[in-house]
Amino acid sequence: MGTQFKRTLITTALPYANGPVHIGHLAGVYVPADIYARYLRLKGEEVLMIGGSDEHGVPITIRAKKEGVTPQDIVDRYHYIIKKSFEDFGITFDIYSRTTSKTHYDTASEFFRILNDKGEFIEKTSEQYYDEEAKQFLADRYITGKCPHCGNENAYGDQCEACGTSLSPTDLINPKSAISGSVPVMKETRHWYLPLDKWEPFLRQWILEGHTEWKSNVYGQCKSWLDMGLQPRAVSRDLDWGIPVPVEGAGGKVLYVWFDAPIGYISNTKELRPDDWETWWKDPETKMIHFIGKDNIVFHCIVFPAMLKAEGSYNLPENVPANEFLNLEGDKISTSRNWAVWLHEYLEEMPGKQDVLRYVLTSNAPETKDNDFTWKDFQARNNNELVAILGNFVNRVLVLTWKYFDGRVPAMNELTGYDAETLKEFAGVKAAVERQLDAFHFRDAQKETMNLARIGNKYLTDTEPWKLAATDMDRVATILHIALQITANLAIAFEPFLPFSMEKLNQMLNIVPLDWGRLGATDLLPAGHLLNRPELLFEKIEDEVIEAQVQKLLDTKKANEEANYTAKPVRDSIGFDDFGKLDIRAGTVLECTKVPKADKLLQFKIDDGLQKRTIISGIAAYYKPEDLIGKQICFIANLAPRKLKGIISEGMILSAEDADGTLAVIMPEKVVKPGSEVK
Ligand code: MF3
Ligand code: ZN
Repeated sequence: MGTQFKRTLITTALPYANGPVHIGHLAGVYVPADIYARYLRLKGEEVLMIGGSDEHGVPITIRAKKEGVTPQDIVDRYHYIIKKSFEDFGITFDIYSRTTSKTHYDTASEFFRILNDKGEFIEKTSEQYYDEEAKQFLADRYITGKCPHCGNENAYGDQCEACGTSLSPTDLINPKSAISGSVPVMKETRHWYLPLDKWEPFLRQWILEGHTEWKSNVYGQCKSWLDMGLQPRAVSRDLDWGIPVPVEGAGGKVLYVWFDAPIGYISNTKELRPDDWETWWKDPETKMIHFIGKDNIVFHCIVFPAMLKAEGSYNLPENVPANEFLNLEGDKISTSRNWAVWLHEYLEEMPGKQDVLRYVLTSNAPETKDNDFTWKDFQARNNNELVAILGNFVNRVLVLTWKYFDGRVPAMNELTGYDAETLKEFAGVKAAVERQLDAFHFRDAQKETMNLARIGNKYLTDTEPWKLAATDMDRVATILHIALQITANLAIAFEPFLPFSMEKLNQMLNIVPLDWGRLGATDLLPAGHLLNRPELLFEKIEDEVIEAQVQKLLDTKKANEEANYTAKPVRDSIGFDDFGKLDIRAGTVLECTKVPKADKLLQFKIDDGLQKRTIISGIAAYYKPEDLIGKQICFIANLAPRKLKGIISEGMILSAEDADGTLAVIMPEKVVKPGSEVK
């Protein structure tokens, strides 16, 4: 408290290398962290931003098993895809490494050994589920069974995905091993535990009294964990993927992924700065900030600090600005359900539009509550804000400067009261943006920055220099001089948020990037300075582009519905008599036409062996009329006639309804006499 910090260590949650990264990752962790890092660097501060892939843990082994490859294959594949996505989006890691690196292996093992030697662990034996066929202990995720809350038959040992309840494996009814399908047995196993209860008084004081400034969602979650009381937590697992427990006789046991992963921050700093990494972790003048999502709060505010404290020589985080979740079009983002906008796909489909996504994700950042990403909102923010406000302002200023002054910054003449007011107003933006950034309020910081462009737009609209060109070139010069200063200010203030576009803007202004300290200055572009030719910073996004994205999601939804289809339970049983009352027949389609003004209905003429019968059927969405003519169908012949759209329908054609609601007409397997009974 009250420490003057000399440098900042920014850590970003290490994403599991079991799939590519999506907009939720970017919005929750990497864009805010990158904005913060860029901001501090622009201020000339010493900063390291540390990232990497989390390559251990059960999610990786599950993915590997599903695909029939090794865990190493999985992490090798996704690590590079993830790393490239981050580079492509301008996330400025000083290092992006991985937890399968040699440095990490050594660092995590050493960390465990130190705590073990200091007697900071307790060893305990407990009973856990064991698969006798596969001869291995089962991670919670590897046990499935019936959820005691909602009856879902496919709940996992850690959670029921149908009702969202967290479970422990012993809660499951009829547990089964997901590996062999056999019924697991209870077996004793010995593990190392970190006694969190021992650190509870310290944590209470450090967080609840010492860090009341933390975001309310983070502080609140910590308080509720602490109020429930902390228990010893196992830091090892029976698994064949991970860092072996570095203790004699610990065969088959690895470090729990949540023990080794946060140590990855240390390992990666070490890999980057082998000579002075300790300055970044142990000098009290280094400020450490963890950027994470809300599901990681307990590990970064309670478990990892307890580990660091137990070791004794490390700093604790100064802040943990965790975000809530970003949803996609109303549903929770999910890697396994493919419900996501994947970063690599976005870039293929919207090349060059990194900043648009960065902007929209920051505008909508789930800072205090879960938020929703929708393509409609994406389009609106691009068209109404980036194009209409920022892009439009910059373009007008540059085009006018070329038109009237051959691309040279005109000199400023006498100022009006309104000019002076505008200068004062935009000089105030710096403090406003800084206040928000220092408090990790990135969406408000971006809003304040956009205000600067609004000020500029309003200034041009109010002063209308294009109308003065014929009468008062001195006035035009002053107006454009001021507008150009606003433009150069935008290039500084937006750099952390829209780095690609601001690079372009600096290029158009023909200047090298300016420091944050110059923000608010009114002399960034001297009179006579020559600009480059303008290009558009942002382009309007058309409806078709958005519709294609929405369609892609609808297709995913459909595929998921099909994959998750379970047949409806069978209805109450009926007697043979009841069945006998139904007169089901085969018939031949003589005519088939669309029913006018009813897009779902087809009208049939059926040869039923006795007469020509009219039947109306709601299958127009699934068949073209001409494709059914001449075919044989099955229908209920003794259903009381009904009037549909003014036509009497004499029976009902039988169809099977597929998972997604599509109807498939039932047809006899070979041609039969019209009127044949179906029994
Ligand atoms: N892989 C974890 C997740 O995606 C995050 C790990 S953060 C670290 O939820 F601290 F462990 F590195
Ligand atoms: Zn359930």
